Amino acid sequence: MKNKSLIKRRFSNSLKTYDNNAIIQKQTAEKLISLLPDTNFEKIFETGALTGILTKELIKKIKFNSYTYNDIIPEAKLYIEKIISEAKFIEGDIEEISLSENYNLIISNASLQWCSDIFETISKLTEHLSDGGILAFSIFGNENLKEIKEFFNIDNEYLKEEILNQKFKVLKYLSEEKRVYFDNPIDIIKHFKLTGVNALKEVRLTKSKLKEFEEEYRKKYTQGNKVYLTYNPIYIILAEK
Ligand SMILES: C[S@@+](CC[C@H](N)C(=O)[O-])C[C@H]1O[C@@H](n2cnc3c(N)ncnc32)[C@H](O)[C@@H]1O
Repeated sequence: MKNKSLIKRRFSNSLKTYDNNAIIQKQTAEKLISLLPDTNFEKIFETGALTGILTKELIKKIKFNSYTYNDIIPEAKLYIEKIISEAKFIEGDIEEISLSENYNLIISNASLQWCSDIFETISKLTEHLSDGGILAFSIFGNENLKEIKEFFNIDNEYLKEEILNQKFKVLKYLSEEKRVYFDNPIDIIKHFKLTGVNALKEVRLTKSKLKEFEEEYRKKYTQGNKVYLTYNPIYIILAEK
């Protein structure tokens, strides 16, 4: 089970620094939008909207009549209403809230991995697709933050295409690896804080553990005069079977 109050606190605290530090989320938003079919979507629902990195990208390319969005943190409204003034906000945990309408496009960038049961959440969302509607989202795969996971011995489950195929019509499943470069390993830890990403989970970072992390990270993951961190975004587009 995910600790939802911790997730809420981390994202609320990162609001002011998120946009400038969410390098990968910006790239995945652009890519996800580029993979959408070139058509008009009557009704759109976005989950995990936060400051609107995806929303801003979407309005450049996609036409729609109504836009509904959701986030577990209420502050998302302050950002999204500046991008689409007439958009409707449904505040709350996407795993808990009930949706009363159907949508032609349900979309989410870098958010569904925060759900306790991603597969269940996807099933719930697809039940709210109109005829011919699609669910398009980006999420992270097994190789995501692998350098960090190795050091702290953290494992994460991810969505395999075979599993999705059992229940949904998988229209697109695209996995890629991207490296982000930092001046030093401590900047990586800061980067997680500034974007609300709690990759370190419950790990306690004592001074000596941090020093060990810094030394080992430099030794293993240096390129030129930088250290790198791997992201593994996966782009998925689904429809009901
Ligand atoms: C990494 S941010 C991505 C934000 C945005 N989609 C973007 O493209 O930058 C993840 C977002 O998901 C939201 N979130 C996390 N768990 C959620 C849940 N269970 N229900 C709704 N929103 C959730 C967080 O509050 C945060 O706004």
